[in-house]
Amino acid sequence: MVPSIEIAPGRRMPTIDVGEGPVVLLVHGYPLSKEMWSETVSVLSKSYRVLAPDLHGFGESTFQSPFSMADLAKDLNGLLIALQIDQPINLVGLSMGGYVAFEFWDRYRSKLSKLVLCDTRAQGDTPEGAANRIAIADQVHRIGTAKSVEGMLPKLVSEQTRLNSPQVVERLHEMMLKTSESTIESAQRAMASRRSFEDRLGEIEVPTLVIVGEMDAISTSKEMKTIADRIPGSQWVELPKVGHMTPMESPREFSEQLLAFLRRS
Ligand code: MLT
Repeated sequence: MVPSIEIAPGRRMPTIDVGEGPVVLLVHGYPLSKEMWSETVSVLSKSYRVLAPDLHGFGESTFQSPFSMADLAKDLNGLLIALQIDQPINLVGLSMGGYVAFEFWDRYRSKLSKLVLCDTRAQGDTPEGAANRIAIADQVHRIGTAKSVEGMLPKLVSEQTRLNSPQVVERLHEMMLKTSESTIESAQRAMASRRSFEDRLGEIEVPTLVIVGEMDAISTSKEMKTIADRIPGSQWVELPKVGHMTPMESPREFSEQLLAFLRRS
């Protein structure tokens, strides 16, 4: 159990808060939790104050009510206020965490020092993609989460990770199975109706790193390169042989790239 920070009356955010120095806020993907950042937290906390919260309903957080991507961004802002963090932060979001990071940037850009977009997408869902998410939300409502979890797990990592690092797949499976039906249902509906930031990428002025696994099957390397090309002055990194879960599949290289970017003035 980690401290659970009261970010609004009756609303709490369990958050890893370790290390000292400039703040790095790590935002997890779906349907995961702060545990996906374990390796990143241990490396970064030697030089930074690292915050890794559980978004609403995920991990140790209890689901209370349906949420949107914007609500999750507002929760992050609530966390910074509750912790009395006034200095600009470095925001790192993976996949759904990236969707939340775009919403955070849109609302609170003066609070950002640097932005890191990992294995994420700038565009909203296609009508087919959104319909598929609604079907998953309905299915989870009817029969529980197991089927949707089994369907998603193979897409998260590369073949190499599956063969050489089965413990990564096992950790992901455990995290996914802990996520409640209400949270999965709400997150699917929220992602289906999320805004597209595709046409706003040129407005991002904060120094940005775009990082992706070469074999990412969800937010492809090609798609992420397009994001990097559209964000002025952004840096692009592709980690070889890994899939969607770069911080878990290639933890050392991921942290090295992140540290190098954060240290660059
Ligand atoms: C994630 O890893 O957060 C999900 O793949 C996001 C999504 O389903 O679009």
